Amino acid sequence: MKQHLIAPSALAADFTRLADELEMVDSSEADWLHLDIMDGRFVPNISFGVPVIKAIRPLTGKPFDVHLMIVEPEKYFSTFQQAGADLLTVHLEVSNHLHRSVQAIHDLGMRAGVSLNPHTPVHLLEEILPEVDLVLLMAVNPGFGGQSFIQNTLSKITRLRRMIDELGTETLIEVDGGVNTDNAPAILKAGADVLVAGSSIFKHTDPRGVIHTMKSVNVDTIKT
Ligand code: DX5
Ligand code: ZN
Repeated sequence: MKQHLIAPSALAADFTRLADELEMVDSSEADWLHLDIMDGRFVPNISFGVPVIKAIRPLTGKPFDVHLMIVEPEKYFSTFQQAGADLLTVHLEVSNHLHRSVQAIHDLGMRAGVSLNPHTPVHLLEEILPEVDLVLLMAVNPGFGGQSFIQNTLSKITRLRRMIDELGTETLIEVDGGVNTDNAPAILKAGADVLVAGSSIFKHTDPRGVIHTMKSVNVDTIKT
């Protein structure tokens, strides 16, 4: 069985007890910590920034998966690298020079991801796909946690899976927004490698249990 990854999204954490939330993630089966950076321009919301990432970096050994929902992200690549990012994802919709951005992220020693909004077709990735480590498919319109999963994402995952398999690369498909224990099996069956989940993990009374349930899905036994 191909082992998928779980990335809890800190956006849904209780910020009054962030250290406890990080301890929970650290002692769970989560693979990465997903960190949503919003600028109030690319998305209609502002989240947290570099000082928060720096502050929490020593609290967990899990890799930091930083999702930049900001315009002109290239201005901040080295700042996020210094703050502790392991993987940096930029949106295709803000990048006129995506190839250059991916190169710059790699030159700083990080893994590079490209994200697509729900309306952006996967075929736009055709030329950049060989260069990227991860494609993040938004399953909600970015900007807020707690929204419902857009069902069309499933067929996008399938189409992207086919493109990656044809290329024969190790590019990961990450799915972000509205992911929970009910829809995780279908998302994985469609071909996702990484599940991002905020509300369904942090708002639950047993967040470690939710992570365990998501991690334990056996894709080979899911009926279609
Ligand atoms: C939304 C963010 C997501 C968000 C997911 O713009 O990119 O990472 O935290 O939250 P849930 O899982 O609550 O939909
Ligand atoms: Zn995100």
